[in-house]
Amino acid sequence: MDLKSLIRDVPDFPKEGILFRDMTPLLQSPEAMSYVSKNFIQNVDLSQIDYFAGIESRGFILAAHLASTHNKGFLPIRKAGKLPPPTKRISYQLEYGSAEIELPIGQGRIMIVDDVLATGGTLQAAIDLSFLAGYKVQEVAVLVNLTFLNQMKFNNKEVFSLVQY
Ligand code: PRP
Ligand code: MG
Repeated sequence: MDLKSLIRDVPDFPKEGILFRDMTPLLQSPEAMSYVSKNFIQNVDLSQIDYFAGIESRGFILAAHLASTHNKGFLPIRKAGKLPPPTKRISYQLEYGSAEIELPIGQGRIMIVDDVLATGGTLQAAIDLSFLAGYKVQEVAVLVNLTFLNQMKFNNKEVFSLVQY
């Protein structure tokens, strides 16, 4: 399936010079979402996964969809200050400034999911945070990898993605 045709390019959003990849048309297509949920886990042993952990905001949509389709739990990796204790928090660098994300303390084997991998700062922070909060990260995957912005690896393999730019 041609997922790229369901990802809209929006120039100069949210800032001048940035080409925003909008997955809204993909979310509007049940056929595409069903294709995504099947193919996201093509290399994954589901018996080794307890939760799909989504990175706020758009990672939530994908992770919740995967959790429901594959009969697993959902775990929110949230922007700091939104989750009740007990949680763990981590700071990471953005292109300009820094950000913080948070996760409930717990246990289990997880697959971390996000919409877009750009510099990799967010995904790497989510991996580190999951470990700090008590989880075992089995897999990571993103819908879109902006490969020209990162060389990110997980377990010595390129991060799995369904669409590459
Ligand atoms: C975007 C995107 C990823 C992250 C990727 O999220 O959804 O989570 O940036 O960038 P990086 O690889 O350079 O860290 P954003 O922080 O804009 O927030 P949102 O998901 O709430 O829109
Ligand atoms: Mg995000």
